Amino acid sequence: MSAKDRPITSSLVNIAMWVERRLHLVKIWKATAGHPIPKSSASWFYTFGSMTLLCFTIQILTGILLALVYVPSANEAYRSLLFLNYQQELGWFLRAMHYWGSNCMVVIVFFHMTQVFLWGAYKHPRELTWISGVVLLFLTLALSFTGQVMRFDSDAYWGIGIGAAISGRIPIIGAQVVNLLLGGPIIGSDTLSRFFALHVFVLPGAVIALVSLHLRLVLLKGINEYPTPGIQVHKGTYWRNYEEMLHKDGMPFVPNGIGKDLVANGVLLLVMVALAVFVGPKGPEIPADPAQVISEAKPDYPFLWLLSAAALLPNGSEVILFFVVPLIAVILLIGLPFFSNVGEKHYSRRPVSILVVMLTYLTIGLLTYAGITGPWSPRMEAWSGTPTKPQFITGRSPVELQGALLLQGKQCRNCHSVGGEGGQRGPDLSAVGARMNQPQLIRQVIQGGGNMPAYGNTLTPQEVNALVSYLVSLRPINTIPALNPAIPEKAERVSSGEPTKGAKTGG
Ligand code: HEC
Repeated sequence: MSAKDRPITSSLVNIAMWVERRLHLVKIWKATAGHPIPKSSASWFYTFGSMTLLCFTIQILTGILLALVYVPSANEAYRSLLFLNYQQELGWFLRAMHYWGSNCMVVIVFFHMTQVFLWGAYKHPRELTWISGVVLLFLTLALSFTGQVMRFDSDAYWGIGIGAAISGRIPIIGAQVVNLLLGGPIIGSDTLSRFFALHVFVLPGAVIALVSLHLRLVLLKGINEYPTPGIQVHKGTYWRNYEEMLHKDGMPFVPNGIGKDLVANGVLLLVMVALAVFVGPKGPEIPADPAQVISEAKPDYPFLWLLSAAALLPNGSEVILFFVVPLIAVILLIGLPFFSNVGEKHYSRRPVSILVVMLTYLTIGLLTYAGITGPWSPRMEAWSGTPTKPQFITGRSPVELQGALLLQGKQCRNCHSVGGEGGQRGPDLSAVGARMNQPQLIRQVIQGGGNMPAYGNTLTPQEVNALVSYLVSLRPINTIPALNPAIPEKAERVSSGEPTKGAKTGG
């Protein structure tokens, strides 16, 4: 060190000491990042907590940046998302990171919880750590749900619709809850403002408060040692043994214990960026329009299993699905550290815990899979923008052409193909006019049925007429429209006509 450097270094040290004497940073460091942890807890299985925190941090950062452009108004929200997708530099990437960050957060919170459950970390004296974690799980789900509303597209619209319908069934206060959530009796501009306030102020604030509590508890009550089969938790001796073990065999979290967390978080970050870049942001889908029967609305991944359950369970079981089951789940989750407070921690000695985890994952996994593939939660391309091939337009009367427009505009093609282009959920309509007669077609359009929504309430009689005229015209050239088998006279004519025809060809 040269003589010239010395005064600078020593004055830097002096400044540092001055700050330290006032803020006591060394003490804070030792009590937080540098706190001692059991050597055994530096395990890959123990990295999900910090990964959840990474997700949340990314949500806060991308969320703030998105909020700079996003306009929380029913008229502007959709447009501001399109602006982010297509005009704002890297706006699509921000939206994609926020979307995938949210999905990752839900999944990893779930993994974290599973690990804590299987490793018995919720037992004495960490009951409150577990309970604050359970509340954080619900807050995360609430953030995910309110975030989906921010898109304010058809998915969001119907998501709130279903949410409101469920809340409306809460005994006694149902109507008030709906009013409070929607900002009135219907979904409108106030609804978006309410959900925006929840999504960006109330819920993140609550998460920050609870994460602080959660981390404080982790520091106070220590990180769970890696359990050994056969070693029991006793309320009287656990804490003494734990402190002894820390003393003998502990190490500071930073720098000795943090390595695996850093690697896991790095991998997670790469996965999120890859999802954002290669899969991209979600939506916005078609703008919300309550006058249209939306055939492709579906919730984001974390709620798909609920949709499947609602669709698969028999009619009338909604009360059980949406009130009784959640209530039992909440009681079981919050009560867990009291039902099972001491004893074995290792999962190999707790076979029921393994069974519970397997059943939960199987149920949610299968229901989510069903939600992605099932017919009642169509995950399909919106075909309404695909042009109709010329041969299905030429030579049509004006009324039939109006029908062709309706087929396009009312999203029939999301389920039905015409000329091989369109959704696959319903039959191809290219030759439906040769298959079905006018009354049958009218009935199908008005009443729906067989997994097709009824359009009776959303089409005027003139529109039904135009649509059906067009459907009747959909048949191979030189074939007559399907006859009405319900009218006996015509049916007779058909049956009596056949032998004649046969006789002709025969002769
Ligand atoms: C959510 C998907 C969906 C949408 C949207 C939809 N349909 Fe359907 N549609 C179906 C399904 C599924 C069937 C088969 C019903 C059955 O098997 O009973 C069907 C059957 C039909 C049939 C009878 C076809 C046949 O060969 O049996 C007609 C005609 C029809 N739809 C017309 C329409 C029109 C017109 C619209 C738009 C106003 C429309 N559909 C919108 C799903 C849909």
